[in-house]
Amino acid sequence: MHVFLTGATGLIGRALVPALRAAGHEVTALSRGAAPGRSPSGAAVVQGDPTRPGAWQDALARCDACVHLAGEPVAAGRWTEERKRAIRESRLASTRLVAEVVARGGPAVLVSGSAVGYYGSRGDEELDEGSPPGRDFLAEVCVAWEAAAAPAAVRARVVLLRTGIVLARDGGALPQLLRPFRYFAGGHIGDGAFWQPWIHLADEVGLITWALEHGTVAGPLAAAAPAPARNRDLAHAIGEVLHRPSVLPVPRSMIELVLGELAGAVTASQRVLPRKALAGGYRFRYPELLPALRDLLAR
Ligand SMILES: NC(=O)c1ccc[n+]([C@@H]2O[C@H](COP(=O)([O-])OP(=O)(O)OC[C@H]3O[C@@H](n4cnc5c(N)ncnc54)[C@H](OP(=O)(O)O)[C@@H]3O)[C@@H](O)[C@H]2O)c1
Repeated sequence: MHVFLTGATGLIGRALVPALRAAGHEVTALSRGAAPGRSPSGAAVVQGDPTRPGAWQDALARCDACVHLAGEPVAAGRWTEERKRAIRESRLASTRLVAEVVARGGPAVLVSGSAVGYYGSRGDEELDEGSPPGRDFLAEVCVAWEAAAAPAAVRARVVLLRTGIVLARDGGALPQLLRPFRYFAGGHIGDGAFWQPWIHLADEVGLITWALEHGTVAGPLAAAAPAPARNRDLAHAIGEVLHRPSVLPVPRSMIELVLGELAGAVTASQRVLPRKALAGGYRFRYPELLPALRDLLAR
């Protein structure tokens, strides 16, 4: 099929383009201005801003499917009011415009981004696609983001991809998590009891491709490995794979001092289980944390 991809220059998009090409799909990638060297190879690039109406919508209308991943990075720095507005508006405006085209009869399937932030912070509660949302800033953004995609469902199959912490070699959260370990100063945050719903980049890409190709998948889809880890287990696993100690806990107050309100998102407890993917027969390449980290951190 011919897939229209927004956010193609991002962490997930850059890995998704070659995976879709390898699966025999054609890809048209939207970018506000892919910098030289960051153009997703293997995709036809359309320049345009997904938050504003434009000619890109005609290209979208000609495709069979859409994967919509564009949005202002969430964890790139402290949340000023301006950054919060950009995080929210980039997702809502772009998703409304994508859904508008799809609802008029473009692609037959829309896989639209969302995040485990939907759930807020929920302690030890097991969470899945049927769990109600939280109430903090990210939860409210995710609820509105998913609602913006909903109008597309009049004409298309809509999948709402609630992505966890994507673990990848080059980019995303993992390189930041590793830094203190490299200096023999790694450890968990606070008491380390909060749950972190991680997913290996290969499975994030695998799930998106699976959702595109499986006509029975619709609605929210948790994109997280079947074995979420507590923060202290993640710290321990990183230490084990890097052969570094993981015994220096970071006080939660220090994270709050450095990150401000973003600290709440970084330390949110989300024990998310990918029930729909497992019930639908998706087979995770990296269901367990240690093999996932070994794969990503192998020299
Ligand atoms: N990575 C994770 O761990 C994770 C976890 C949960 C959810 N997600 C969600 O999954 C989606 C993709 O994640 P990612 O990590 O691949 O994202 P990313 O690396 O931050 O890339 C996002 C893409 O969105 C576009 N973009 C950035 N700011 C924008 C803005 N203000 N307006 C319009 N477009 C903008 C950029 O494309 P151009 O500059 O080429 O236009 C960029 O390539 C995001 O919506 C993210 O929230 C990711």
